[in-house]
Amino acid sequence: MLPRIGPVMALLALSLATPLAASAAPVPASPALAPRPLVAFSLVVPSSVAPSGLLARAILPRGVACPPLVAEISDGRKVTRSSRVRDTPGSTSPAFNALRTCEAKIPRDATAVTMGGIGIPAAMPARIDRMAIVGDSGCRIWESWIQDCTSAQDWPYARIAQRIAQDDPDLIVHMGDFFYREEACPPAQSDLCANSPGPIPGLPFTDTDYSWLADAIVPMAPMFPAAPILALRGNHEECFRGGNGWFLFFDPSWQTADRCAPQGGVAPTVLTDTYAVDLPVREDRSLRLVVVDSSNGSDTSITPSLQPEQRAAYEAGAALAADAGESWLLTHRPIIGLVTTQYSPPPPTEWTPWTSMDQAAASYGLLDDFGVVIGSHVHVVESVQVPGLPGQLIVGNGGTLLDASSGYAIPPHGQLANASGQPVDPDLTPYPTASRLWVRAQFGYAIATPGRGNGAWRFSIRSVSGDEFAVCRLRAPDLRCADA
Ligand SMILES: [Fe+2]
Ligand SMILES: [Fe+2]
Repeated sequence: MLPRIGPVMALLALSLATPLAASAAPVPASPALAPRPLVAFSLVVPSSVAPSGLLARAILPRGVACPPLVAEISDGRKVTRSSRVRDTPGSTSPAFNALRTCEAKIPRDATAVTMGGIGIPAAMPARIDRMAIVGDSGCRIWESWIQDCTSAQDWPYARIAQRIAQDDPDLIVHMGDFFYREEACPPAQSDLCANSPGPIPGLPFTDTDYSWLADAIVPMAPMFPAAPILALRGNHEECFRGGNGWFLFFDPSWQTADRCAPQGGVAPTVLTDTYAVDLPVREDRSLRLVVVDSSNGSDTSITPSLQPEQRAAYEAGAALAADAGESWLLTHRPIIGLVTTQYSPPPPTEWTPWTSMDQAAASYGLLDDFGVVIGSHVHVVESVQVPGLPGQLIVGNGGTLLDASSGYAIPPHGQLANASGQPVDPDLTPYPTASRLWVRAQFGYAIATPGRGNGAWRFSIRSVSGDEFAVCRLRAPDLRCADA
C-alpha cells in the first residue's frame, strides 16, 4: 500500500515549522531568532536579477517578518543579508492571505547559505553532469477529470521529486504547469481530492496559496535542498488560472508578485521576458539555456493579438542563441509537438494533431541556432524530428493525469498546415512533416548528461521509481529516442 498524502499534512507541517504566529505587526527578525520558514529554496535567475544567478526564496505565514539570509563566502567571510517581503497585492484577497514569500539575492562565491535556518543550494553548479527535467506536475481537478490526489500512485509527483533528489542532480528544471486544482472538488469525489482547496468564488483566477501548497510546494520539498530550481511558466500559470501563485513563488525576477494581480476585477494578460542561463559543461564547453514564456495563446490556431509580443520573445531568444556555442530553447508549449488523435474533434474539421500553433508561428525562422527545443504541456514523454528544425523533446509526464497512450502518428502534413495541407497563414510556408516520432505515456522525469563532443547529450528517461525506461540521444540538432 502506497502512502496517502494531502494538504492536511501540508498544513500540519506548516504549523509545526512556524512557531511564531502570524500577526498584524511584523515580528522583527535577527539571525538568532529568525522565524523558520516552511520551506526555502534557491531559484535560478538571469544574472541581471542576481549576479550569482540565484535568488533565495522562503515561504512563511503572512505577517511574520522575513528571515535574513546568511552566507559563507569562499574567502572566509560571513555575510548576512536581510530579505524582502514578496506578498501578492490586495486585489488577490483573500486567496493569498495566508502565506508570503521572502526573497534575497544569494551573494557571489557563496559556499554555504541558510535562510531562516534552512540550508539551501549556495551556488550555480560549477559543472553540469546531471540535469533533472520534470514538467506538468499538479493534481488535476477539472470537470470530469478528477485525479486521486490522495494516492502517490495515481498522482506521483511527490515520489518523482524524491527520486530526483536521490539522483543528486546539479540543476533541476521544471518545465511548467505546476497548478491543476482549478475547481472545487465535486462532493461525490471528495475522497479523491484530499480536501483540496478550491478556487475562491468571485475572483478572476483559480489559485490560492493553499492550493499551491498542496499542488507544488509540499510535493516538491525533497528537491529544494538538492539543487537550484530553474522554473518555467506553463499555461496553467496564466493570470486567470495559477498566475498569482507563479509570481508569488517561482517567477525568476525580483519583486514581481503583483504582475498577475487583478486590475479592475479582471486578470491581466502577462508575458514575461526571455532570458538565458549559461551552464559550464566541461573545460571547453558550455551550454546556454534560453527560456521563452509560452504560457499564453492557442495550441490549435494563430492568435493575432498575441503574435507581435510572442514573436519579440522568440527574437530575443534567437539573439541570445546566436552568440552561444551550444544552446537549447526551453519553452513550455511544444513548437512542433504531436498530440493524440483520440482527443480530436469530430469531422468535418481542419484540426491537426500539431501543437502549439501560436508558438510555431511566432518562432518561425528563429530556431536555427538551437540544438534542441525542450517543452512539456503534452502529458507524455515524446520526441519529434522535423527536417530542418532542431529536435523537439517533450517531458510532460511529471504527475498530472497522463494523456492517452495511443493515437500518436506522423500526420501527412507538417506544422502550420491545416488538415488539408493548406497554410494556416498565407505568409508562413508550412514545415515538412516529421521524419521521426517517439511517444510514451508513463509517469517520470529525465536526467540529461553531456556526451562527447559539442552538442552531444544523453537523456535518461526514468520512471517514478527511478528506473530508466528509455534513452534519448541528442547530436544537435538530431534527437533520437528509443525504449531502453
Ligand atoms: Fe499540462
Ligand atoms: Fe501546459
